[in-house]
Formats: sequence, C-alpha cells, structure tokens
Amino acid sequence: MNEKDWDQVAGTFEEEIFNVPANDTKGHIARWVDRLAVPDAVATDLGCGVGRTLPMLAERFGKVYAVDVSSQCLEVAAKACGNHSNISYVHVDLSTDRKSYPATDVVLCINTLLNASLEVREPLIDRTCRSVKRGGHLLLVVPSLNSALLTAFRHLQWNLKEGMDPRTAQKEAALNSKGLEHGIVHIDDVPTKHYLREELEATLMDRGFAVEAIEKLEYPWTTEFDAPPKWMKAPFPWDWFVAAKRVR
Ligand SMILES: C[S@@+](CC[C@H](N)C(=O)[O-])C[C@H]1O[C@@H](n2cnc3c(N)ncnc32)[C@H](O)[C@@H]1O
Repeated sequence: MNEKDWDQVAGTFEEEIFNVPANDTKGHIARWVDRLAVPDAVATDLGCGVGRTLPMLAERFGKVYAVDVSSQCLEVAAKACGNHSNISYVHVDLSTDRKSYPATDVVLCINTLLNASLEVREPLIDRTCRSVKRGGHLLLVVPSLNSALLTAFRHLQWNLKEGMDPRTAQKEAALNSKGLEHGIVHIDDVPTKHYLREELEATLMDRGFAVEAIEKLEYPWTTEFDAPPKWMKAPFPWDWFVAAKRVR
C-alpha cells in the first residue's frame, strides 16, 4: 500500500486495520516499553497510523516523534492525542525521503515493514534501523511467515475434516501467494511481506543490532477465519515481536 492507500484508510482505520497493541494479551509490547522508558529519553512511533500507541509512549518518554507517510492518519492521531504536548508529528515516506527527525533511544514499529516490493522495503528497513540511536532499542512487530503457513495447514485440516477430497482440500486451502519463497502472502488481496524468525535475526544483525528477545504475539483463530470450528485451538496464529539493541 502507498501513501494514497493509507490516506484513504485513515477515516476507517479502527475497523479495517487489525489492532496489534489491543490484542497483545500477554503484554509483550507494553512490558518492553516500560522496561526502556526513562522520563528524559526520546521515542519514535514509526508508522504510527492513527496513534494507537502514542499515548503509551508520550506518558513514559520526555519526547515522542510520531512518524508516518499518511498525512490523513497523522491528522487523526494529532486530534486523538491533543492532550499530549510532547509529541511531534513527522510526515515522511521512509522508503524514499531523507529522515527528517533525529535517531532516538527507542523506536516502536508495529506492522509498518509490510511492503511486498523489495525496492520499497529495503530502504524502509534501513531507515527504520538508522532511526535508533547507538545503544538504543528497536521494538518491532511484523507478520510471521510460519504463522501464515500454519493457517494454510489449519485450513487444509478443516477441509479434510469436512469430508473434502484431498486434492480439492489442498487446492482450496492454498495460499494466494506469488512470491511465497520471499515471504509474500496476500492478505485481503494486498501482497504483504511476512518474516521468518531467522530472517529477522539475520536482517537485524546485519544492520548492527543484537536481538534481545523474539516473542510470539498470539491471536485467536477468528483473526484468520470467519467462525473457525471449536476444535481449532492452540497453536494459535501470531505476529513476531522483536526487541533488539543497536550495538554499532
Ligand atoms: C498497518 S499500519 C500500522 C499502524 C500502527 N503502527 C498501528 O499499530 O496501529 C502501517 C502504518 O505504516 C505507515 N507506513 C507505511 N509505509 C510507510 C513509509 N514508507 N513511511 C512511513 N510510514 C509508512 C502507514 O501509513 C500506516 O499508518
């Protein structure tokens, strides 16, 4: 999705865009934010959208940069967070523009590195990493490729239990995924980058980070299927949460 797409979604963001922090039932994100919070430190919410996580940061850090490519989303965020005077709003396309805010102690980046195009995604990842001060932390949430494959398996299992013949069951459960070998899976017809745990470790190490934690943010099966059957329980689908320290 590009700037125009995100602008169009700004008014209906809560209905259309899955709310990761609200569904972080184990509190991984909040716990890491609390662990790193220092009153005079500076944080960035990179791809802040309509500002779901801005109050959490603004209450714990001295200064917060709310960064997004969508001016419409930033407008909604600024309205919603009007009572927090320590937030600066930065309109920038991090895949093409020069970074127009300083590197900060903590960068929270929830489901922003999703673009299927490598030409867009690589500079976006580079600038995300460079947004973290040396010695600072990146708190990252991205879709899991393993989880997408587990969802396809569950779909197949469900089809077989319903009595479908194996051939049709497999065909029907196949992922719509040109580029699956590079982690591209279509979500609601949008090609979306999904990540392996090992890929995240290698990507971050390559950019001077030491990974301190990788956790699953687990969600119920209703996030993947309308009315999933009762037997469909754990293992549940998940996004990856990564906490990494910039060491060089
Ligand atoms: C899935 S939304 C997540 C929003 C927010 N982090 C949340 O959890 O609610 C992704 C956000 O990243 C922003 N984004 C996507 N590509 C970007 C880019 N190249 N530069 C800056 N922001 C970008 C979008 O505008 C959108 O607000």
